[in-house]
Amino acid sequence: MKYQNILITGGCGFIGTNFINYLFNLKEFTGNVINIDKLTYAGNPNNLIDINEKYGNDRYFFYKTDITDISSIDTVFEKHAVDCIIHFAAESHVDRSIHGPGEFIQTNIIGTFNLLETVRKHWKNSKDFLFHHISTDEVFGSLGNTGYFYETTPYDPRSPYSASKASSDHLVMAYFYTYAIPITISNCTNNYGQYQFPEKLIPLMINNMLEEKDLPVYGKGKNIRDWLYVQDHCSGIWKIVQNGRRGETYNFGGENEWTNIDLLNILCEEVAIQKNKDKDYYKKLITYVKDRAGHDHRYAINCDKVKEELNWKQSVTFNEGLTKTVKWYLSNIKWMNDIKSGQYKNWIEKNYCQR
Ligand code: NAD
Ligand code: DAU
Repeated sequence: MKYQNILITGGCGFIGTNFINYLFNLKEFTGNVINIDKLTYAGNPNNLIDINEKYGNDRYFFYKTDITDISSIDTVFEKHAVDCIIHFAAESHVDRSIHGPGEFIQTNIIGTFNLLETVRKHWKNSKDFLFHHISTDEVFGSLGNTGYFYETTPYDPRSPYSASKASSDHLVMAYFYTYAIPITISNCTNNYGQYQFPEKLIPLMINNMLEEKDLPVYGKGKNIRDWLYVQDHCSGIWKIVQNGRRGETYNFGGENEWTNIDLLNILCEEVAIQKNKDKDYYKKLITYVKDRAGHDHRYAINCDKVKEELNWKQSVTFNEGLTKTVKWYLSNIKWMNDIKSGQYKNWIEKNYCQR
């Protein structure tokens, strides 16, 4: 096994949580995980309670750490001989970046810069070190009804979120060329699955169905997203960490494009089936609301490179993934309620429920 001390940033968020679970379920993984997370509204340490019980302070270490504070990152590097970083931590929600971009600049740009600087101090010119940066397809901008984003597509971010992610990608690549720090970057389309914070389309809609609240569709619902089951993203990240060429970027996608309204109709049917309701029961809640400012029309990615070079492919069909996802949310009402009783509730009510 190549890496023994993997530092995960943002491990208490949606993808980070899924990735840490994925890692500990891998027979080949015998190393340690050091999870640093600020625990913003999106970070929930309860997600990893089982991992903590099984491996806490033995192979799993959690530090409540803000990556905008470089000295606290340094303290973690002094304690652990980190040989790999997988950097998930970010402000991740486009709507929030429109309402208040400041945090996005701080965490996504300055936070990434702080991590890179800490690595520059500690990596000891080891060829076996790796900084893997998790990024998004949104850095490439917005597509019309045809075409795809390739690894070579020029960056053209449109929201404060995607601009901050683009900026962090450039910094990571700059540290490869300037300081020869071994890095890899992955750009992924929309993930879905368990533990996703219910501000994002799929869990928000499931939550609202269960509460019989409006299902707010932005604009005409014709924007298109490509959806990848989160476990498939995790398996891909691990393939890059193990065998990806250093200094390279890799695209991930589901090759599974849906308009928002079509996806929502299917989701309504899936929740209805699992709740033993009439197939169309929840569709009456669909409500068209004001569009997102600068709403990107379509994201779609070409992921041939990672398929050909690293033998990755999606393993979960959209039907299977959506069924599993709905099942998980219906079986984890307490998880949702815990979130809603916190900061999330105030924010969501202010921004959506009063529309
Ligand atoms: P998330 O919002 O669910 O989780 C983000 C995590 O980062 C939280 O645990 C939060 O507490 C932590 N965090 C935020 N600011 C921090 C700070 N200053 N210091 C330390 N920790 C901090 O996000 P996610 O959906 O899991 O996304 C993870 C990464 O994947 C992000 O970099 C995002 O840009 C990228 N990404 C997400 C998707 C998607 O569909 N969710 C798709 C492509 C790429
Ligand atoms: O493409 C990757 C990106 O996917 C990630 O980088 C981001 O971190 C992640 O949040 C996601 O961004 P989106 O903006 O695509 O995801 P979101 O779930 O917010 O919205 C998906 C689509 O649904 C988008 O076209 C906006 C629309 N939407 C969203 C919400 C929350 C609605 O119509 N109504 C809603 O209430």
